[in-house]
Amino acid sequence: MTLPSPINIVAAIDQNYGIGLDNDIPWYIPEDLVYFNKLTKTGINVPQSDIANSESDNSMSVCIMGRKTWESLPDKYRPLPGRFNIILSSKQNLIDLNNTRYKNVRIASSIKQAISLVHEINQSTTSIKLGSVFIVGGSNIYEQALLEPRYRLFITHVKNPSKKNCTVFFPQFLNRDGINQKHFNDLKSLLYFDIEPGKLVSKSGIEYEFTLYQNF
Ligand SMILES: NC(=O)c1ccc[n+]([C@@H]2O[C@H](COP(=O)([O-])OP(=O)(O)OC[C@H]3O[C@@H](n4cnc5c(N)ncnc54)[C@H](OP(=O)(O)O)[C@@H]3O)[C@@H](O)[C@H]2O)c1
Repeated sequence: MTLPSPINIVAAIDQNYGIGLDNDIPWYIPEDLVYFNKLTKTGINVPQSDIANSESDNSMSVCIMGRKTWESLPDKYRPLPGRFNIILSSKQNLIDLNNTRYKNVRIASSIKQAISLVHEINQSTTSIKLGSVFIVGGSNIYEQALLEPRYRLFITHVKNPSKKNCTVFFPQFLNRDGINQKHFNDLKSLLYFDIEPGKLVSKSGIEYEFTLYQNF
């Protein structure tokens, strides 16, 4: 089963590529949480490269995440509402999938199996149709996604967010073959909502910037 191409990867990283500490994100940028939620709910505005059409046909976007990222979500955002959640784990009985709370959740043992699940659901007669697929962390899952031939990176750069150093990191990507930062307008054209360009300052006082990189 081939992965959707390009694959969409979403992360907020500090200047040392840090993404996490103590199974949490060691900064609070509400504007980036809004961005993450809108992006991963509404999908990408290039339906032909995704598994199904995105917002235009009311399909639901998919978030694929590692078990620790799943466990790091606050209870009221777990599962991520309005999205189909796929958790990568070796623990097949991690949650009770018969519980209606988890009707839009599945567990998979690899990214490829997660994508097979998406195809199976789209080919089945269920009313649910899945659209844009996002890889939302953590570290090892990002690393695996970066082995794909074509990917988009929706990176929020975060500047000096915390006095505490992260212990979990996004893979170094700037030195990879073919990677290039796209113009802000290219990012904007992929979104179904508006965002502001350049370096921004959060209500919480932290500087951040929405960016897009691609390797194609
Ligand atoms: N800043 C950001 O944008 C961002 C985004 C996401 C997460 N985070 C942070 O990152 C941290 C969590 O990331 P993490 O790297 O520690 O853990 P993680 O990737 O979320 O989860 C690791 C677990 O995922 C499962 N797993 C990993 N690769 C797998 C594979 N190929 N197939 C099947 N299962 C696989 C394993 O679960 P089992 O042990 O159950 O087998 C593994 O122990 C937290 O601090 C979180 O807040 C930050």
